[in-house]
Amino acid sequence: MGLTIRNELVPRIGSWFLLNQPILRHLTAVACKCHSVSESDETFLLSFQNSSAIGSGMAGLFITFEGSEACGKSTQVKRLECKLHEMGKKAIVVHEPGSTDIGLAIRHILLHMKENRAMCPETELLLFAASRAQLVREVIDPALASGAVVVSDRFYDSTTVYQGVARNLDPEFVAHLNQFVVDGYRPDRTFVLDLDVEVANRRRIRRVRPVGGGDRIEELPQEFFMFVRQGYHDLAAKEPGRVKLIDAAPSADEVEAAIWKQLDGLLD
Ligand code: TMP
Repeated sequence: MGLTIRNELVPRIGSWFLLNQPILRHLTAVACKCHSVSESDETFLLSFQNSSAIGSGMAGLFITFEGSEACGKSTQVKRLECKLHEMGKKAIVVHEPGSTDIGLAIRHILLHMKENRAMCPETELLLFAASRAQLVREVIDPALASGAVVVSDRFYDSTTVYQGVARNLDPEFVAHLNQFVVDGYRPDRTFVLDLDVEVANRRRIRRVRPVGGGDRIEELPQEFFMFVRQGYHDLAAKEPGRVKLIDAAPSADEVEAAIWKQLDGLLD
């Protein structure tokens, strides 16, 4: 008898979920608002419905920095870290790919290993994703749960832009992979340091590097970085609440001031 009832209920429950997709979507959108999530980001909302998001209970603040090579990201990350410490905040800085033992090994394969020139875009995508999956679970999740401010030098927007736009991999697949990897985490604020490609290239050449310290991606032709820049512009237009485009051409002090202005209210 009990078994009969359960058998009857299964398809009914299934069709209830199917029929109520719009309601579920709405409830998810309301929940996401509490985490400053834009409702227009369909993929993100779907990922919330389909996964047991570890990031949905985050207590800290998550800030990411993005941009093309030599745009001054690392300098601004350090400056923000100092400021946060001066304010007495617990701040944790991470850098992608890397910041875990596994991530550092993956970084070596992706960027510096002598034999990596044959790497195909699909392998590249999956290695960046693997490094990030480890970083989220090993460092970012516990840090945010403890209430810390996490500052990340690159996060999934790099994959959206470098692999999904400049490498021309299927953007929908890249978006789904990103959400699978970060399992609900989404930056509260993302700063894209925006710089003309030629200026960036001149800065890159001037940079002091150890012998053989260049990497596989920064050696790509300038055209690749034009796609990267356009990808970031499109992202900022699509998610204006989260993604802030910062002109990286002025002095480091001026760039820092512009970033600080955009953090208004978030650090209270
Ligand atoms: P960086 O440490 O100097 O920022 O170098 C990381 C390089 O890897 C940079 O060229 C951007 C690239 N990258 C991707 O292509 N996709 C990604 O998802 C990430 C995190 C970085």
